[in-house]
Amino acid sequence: MAQLIDGKAVSKQIKEETAKEVLALREKGIVPGLAVVLVGEDPASKVYVSNKQKACKACHIESFGYVLPESTSEEELLKLVGELNEDPKVNGILVQLPLPRHIDENKIIHAISPKKDVDAFHPVNVGKIMIGDYDFLPCTPAGCLALIDSTGVEISGKRCVVIGRSNIVGKPMAMLLLHRNGTVTICHSKTKNLAEICREADILVAAVGREKFVTADMVKEGAVVIDVGINRMENGKLCGDVDFDAVKEKCAAITPVPGGVGPMTIAMLMKNTVTAAKIQNGTL
Ligand code: GUN
Repeated sequence: MAQLIDGKAVSKQIKEETAKEVLALREKGIVPGLAVVLVGEDPASKVYVSNKQKACKACHIESFGYVLPESTSEEELLKLVGELNEDPKVNGILVQLPLPRHIDENKIIHAISPKKDVDAFHPVNVGKIMIGDYDFLPCTPAGCLALIDSTGVEISGKRCVVIGRSNIVGKPMAMLLLHRNGTVTICHSKTKNLAEICREADILVAAVGREKFVTADMVKEGAVVIDVGINRMENGKLCGDVDFDAVKEKCAAITPVPGGVGPMTIAMLMKNTVTAAKIQNGTL
């Protein structure tokens, strides 16, 4: 049985450190603030947004919640983002994705000031990550990296395979592993010999969005396996992209779902908000 990588415990520690830092900033009159914008009624998004607001409270970060109806126009959302960009109490802006179909996500992401872009989705921040000179790391890949580090495994020189090439997870994850001197392969839906490539991985990150996609025959003995997937099964339970019960018998360390990457994403968002507040107040 593999080591279980406890995302709840690691994220708790990060949130406690963040809370301490926020209290010290408050002593200096700096109150980090995060605006969280939810448009529409997506049930998963509602849960994520509520968890983000709870985490703000635990970290003493001021949260400004905006819940807008599904019918909100692109123009109205752009206007709100513009106002939040100008508001000195707001250090970070998070617009929960996905947005309703009639709103162009890219337009909204482009409108967020890069200085307040705590998701690190703006092209300026994406470019900074590419060249390794960044203020914010995107929350989910940063959380995965912290979990890999928590196992004590050295990334440098290792074969790393990322399954999934999304802008939110796969691409930045590959870049972060590359910055740490991993030898990185990105696999996707058109990849040939996927199982063979995955079997070479010392570090395997699954961000596919398909229930139990990674089976035991795709995993090298002794690998570290990070499961980014959150899939709802027919019985209503959550499960990851990895066939956890089978893979855990083969790998050295594995993240559970839930309780692995999920809580880390939120902890990293808190950290990014504090970084944004420090930059905007000239203390970093
Ligand atoms: N939807 C799913 N994950 C994320 C995330 O990390 N940030 C935002 N803004 N929306 C999301």
